[in-house]
Amino acid sequence: MYCVRNVTEDLYWIGANDHRLSLFENIHPIPRGVSYNAYVLLDEKTVLFDTVDWSACRQFLENLEYVLQGRPLDYMIINHMEPDHGASIEEILLRYPKVKIISTEKAFMLMRQFDFHVDGHELIEVKEGDSQTFGKHTVTFIEAPMVHWPEAMVTFDTTNGVLFSADAFGSFGALDGKLFNDEVNFDRDWIDDARRYYTNIVGKYGPHVQLLLKKASGILKDIKYICPLHGPVWRSNLEYLIGKYDAWSSYRPEEKGVLIAYASMYGNTEAAASALASKLCERGMTNVWMYDVSNTHVSYLISETFRLSHVVVASVTYNLGIYPVMHNYLMDMKALNLQNRTFAIVENGSWACKSGDLMERFLNEELKNMTVLNDRLSLASSLKAEKAHELDALADAIVESIKNDKE
Ligand code: FEO
Repeated sequence: MYCVRNVTEDLYWIGANDHRLSLFENIHPIPRGVSYNAYVLLDEKTVLFDTVDWSACRQFLENLEYVLQGRPLDYMIINHMEPDHGASIEEILLRYPKVKIISTEKAFMLMRQFDFHVDGHELIEVKEGDSQTFGKHTVTFIEAPMVHWPEAMVTFDTTNGVLFSADAFGSFGALDGKLFNDEVNFDRDWIDDARRYYTNIVGKYGPHVQLLLKKASGILKDIKYICPLHGPVWRSNLEYLIGKYDAWSSYRPEEKGVLIAYASMYGNTEAAASALASKLCERGMTNVWMYDVSNTHVSYLISETFRLSHVVVASVTYNLGIYPVMHNYLMDMKALNLQNRTFAIVENGSWACKSGDLMERFLNEELKNMTVLNDRLSLASSLKAEKAHELDALADAIVESIKNDKE
């Protein structure tokens, strides 16, 4: 059975949800599933915008067939060639062999790399600023390299103000019927998934996203809809999402607050982290979030680190090094280009406490624009009452730093 929705009078969402996949890109947990969005425009010509992951192909094909109602498919625009969107291209070519494919030079190269048999079909290579008319609708192509692969572009329909934004403005989470942002409580139910999607998938490429936002600012007043490849379609309050993207892509915290990420083997480092959280709350800083790095997937830690201004890394010493899971978290921050945060350090070691120095060196030497507070809480196995003044001093230093933050 088909499952489609109108976006506008002549534009249809024909994507599908996947509730079965547990790990997106085989690495990021998606307990609420994910949607693969594809769209079709019925003008004098018929135009498909992107395809879907192989897992959703059957539903997608049924949707497309239903919307076309026997009409031929004239064009297929590929904004992004990553297989979660491009995997069904060849299936389209088999079923609609006369379709013309519109995409970038790099995308065609990737199609061949993935062994899609596109040669022999009509390929229309487009560049920044090129346009194409399908009847009453005219679209313009805007290159969006590294958002999130080098071949990516976005397509803007100048007739009705629809921006097909590829991975930009997407989110984890299956739609389950609710297609539009105004059909959900996005700020309550979706923002964490949207942030986790952006920061872990596209987070490394902040400067490229900034470039795209700059290009979009020129047509901002004309954008009426944002149609991403994952998650809800936006038709209101666009400035909310664009504001989030601006913060994330410029590595600016969304909120003043403290993430306490702790690595604890027997509960003593955790107890110190809890004591610090209480001290912060006593001082009026209640936007405090504690996470055990050993049982929190790093994608959640990264997302929270993008959200908050201050991070406490509390780690035991392990084989004279940083606890491996904490080290992995720090490595992920580096991989995703995270910047502009203030850190405090809690270290623990029963006979050779090394984790504090090692974490401080990592933060200073491996990451960009990070501030490490001078105060540090250093434990020998467990937090003792005589360390209360160090704990207080660390809490004071964090609160003071938050007060002095300009943002
Ligand atoms: Fe959703 Fe970069 O693919």
